[in-house]
Amino acid sequence: MPEPAAVPDTRIAVECRGIVKQFGEGPNALRALDDVSVAIREKEFFTLLGPSGCGKTTLLRMIAGFEYPTEGSIRLHGEDIAGLPPFKRPINTVFQSYALFPHLTVWENVAFGLQMLGRPKAEIAARVAEMLKLVHMEELAQRRTDQISGGQGQRVALARALAPAPKVLLLDEPLSALDYKLRKEMQIELKRMQSETGITFIFVTHDQEEALTMSDRIAVMSKGKVLQIGTPWDIYDKPAERFVADFIGETNFLATTLLGIEAGIARVRLPSGVEMSATLAEGYVPSGAATLVVRPEHARVVPAGGPTADQPSGQLSGTVENVVYFGTDTHIHVRLDEGFTFMVRQQNSRSQSCGVTVGERVGIVIAPDAAQVLRD
Ligand SMILES: Nc1ncnc2c1ncn2[C@@H]1O[C@H](COP(=O)(O)OP(=O)(O)O)[C@@H](O)[C@H]1O
Ligand SMILES: [Mg+2]
Repeated sequence: MPEPAAVPDTRIAVECRGIVKQFGEGPNALRALDDVSVAIREKEFFTLLGPSGCGKTTLLRMIAGFEYPTEGSIRLHGEDIAGLPPFKRPINTVFQSYALFPHLTVWENVAFGLQMLGRPKAEIAARVAEMLKLVHMEELAQRRTDQISGGQGQRVALARALAPAPKVLLLDEPLSALDYKLRKEMQIELKRMQSETGITFIFVTHDQEEALTMSDRIAVMSKGKVLQIGTPWDIYDKPAERFVADFIGETNFLATTLLGIEAGIARVRLPSGVEMSATLAEGYVPSGAATLVVRPEHARVVPAGGPTADQPSGQLSGTVENVVYFGTDTHIHVRLDEGFTFMVRQQNSRSQSCGVTVGERVGIVIAPDAAQVLRD
């Protein structure tokens, strides 16, 4: 039977295919983006996550039309938008420095874009009222924007960007100028605004916690490349590469010897000589050596000295080096006999301390299914 013809996926809002961006020429040329492909779905909260300089802003600027790709194409709902100038794209941007007009009121700032588009007065009034309600700024509508706080300014910037009802909203580190508590509040607010408006959000951040809490899917970037795309759960629990595992949350790496692979599960030998199973990063077939990743909350500390009736022996053993109390949990750093440190995170309870002291000999039990072999 012949293959069915490919049906264009209408649920894709923005598709970047094979994007290369080179700045400069010759020996000083810099590849800010190197073969980046992402497909962002309609109504999705999609995050570009990576350290400073990895190319996040460059990619956003190309989607907005302020910058042109050296190679590759950008499609909006299936149509190539290369020839479309920024103001003709149904896309708006919120920047970190949200650049409000200080001499205008909150109301006038939000109305500005709509007035530029020549919308009728009654429509503008209704739309501004709706947007100010959405960002909880109705009461300050007549306040000048040089007389409002940073958090309020960011809300006005959002209302202004959302007012013309763009299909896609680009947000370039919009919360990084806010202090911690306000940033947490705005994360929840942004999520709410996104689901209420149904607009596709492409959000840029270097903050992994922000990305994990807000996103439907995340693209992790490093040095101009996308290393992994997935849900927060995928990215955290099944990191494909060392960079991703290291950048997102805290983690332990273990160098092991590969014994064999059966039904997609690797059998490895730990430095202690103990054998265990580990899942494989998608599509990866290791050979010889295998680096395991184990999250600190997927391991626990047990008394040293081997199995007892109610306690298994650990796959690893070592000496407690440090016990750090964090309120919600405790981090126990164990110096393994092989010479490197392994961190275990244990949730605290009111009735019990973590039960180990510095200098004590302990074993470490790794939960079944907790270990994954990374792509090397
Ligand atoms: N207009 C430009 N000219 C030359 N180099 C640039 C330009 N814009 C960005 N770059 C470089 O491209 C790389 C990616 O920058 P950027 O996209 O701003 O990173 P991010 O937003 O992830 O911090 C950086 O090395 C930066 O210096
Ligand atoms: Mg940037």
